[in-house]
Amino acid sequence: MRKTVIAANWKMHKNLSETEEYGQKLMTLLASPLDAEVVICPAFTSLQVLSKTLEKSPVKIGAQNLFWENSGAYTGEISAPLLLDCGCRYVIVGHSERRHLMNESDASINRKLKAALNNSLIPIFCVGETLPERQNNMARQVIKEQLSRGLDEVSLTEGKIVIAYEPVWAIGTGINANPDDAQEMIAFIRETLAGLYNMELAQSISILYGGSVKTDNIADFMDKKDIDGALVGGASLNVHDFARIVRLGK
Ligand code: G3P
Repeated sequence: MRKTVIAANWKMHKNLSETEEYGQKLMTLLASPLDAEVVICPAFTSLQVLSKTLEKSPVKIGAQNLFWENSGAYTGEISAPLLLDCGCRYVIVGHSERRHLMNESDASINRKLKAALNNSLIPIFCVGETLPERQNNMARQVIKEQLSRGLDEVSLTEGKIVIAYEPVWAIGTGINANPDDAQEMIAFIRETLAGLYNMELAQSISILYGGSVKTDNIADFMDKKDIDGALVGGASLNVHDFARIVRLGK
């Protein structure tokens, strides 16, 4: 039985008071027992306050990025031990905005995945193709390369990683992938993981869909057999919408 994971990626939104208000409201909205693992990934500046606000709740905290060294002269970077100290259990690695806007390579993503795992942080490892890559029938090849390079020499056991399939053309555009296409790509990701590791491990890994997930389409994704949850951007900024997505995503 794979874990359902509903994760919020706030990106560069919400100051401290907005974070605290959201956290308190979420506690109320999600007061009854949860079927899904719920993860909120705020900006670095909000990690500590969110973790404090949610300390009595089962909701987990995640960061949106990390650096691969544990400490040292790396101005502006944040390490896995520092994230753990702020209450993080998860960390997003390889988001397409970082791949494309910050030129993150598969090699640096690989180092980040290793750093997260070595420190017992659960990476939410993002992969996804661009629109031209999809139109040129290269989606599978791109995803396979992102997975094999990102996971190069990464040893995995059950429950240590979550994968998110986020087609770049569906992120923040309001144009979500067709749930059947998302299912097909996520099944392909699982098949690729089985090739890199083994079928048993591949079957145990939660794979999420991300890209314009909203209250009115989450159920269609969750109906698909290989889709184990969602990584939600824009719609997670409204606490009522996010709580509804969590309830619909079980
Ligand atoms: O990581 C979540 C993401 O990139 C999707 O964003 O706004 O399309 O839900 P959005």
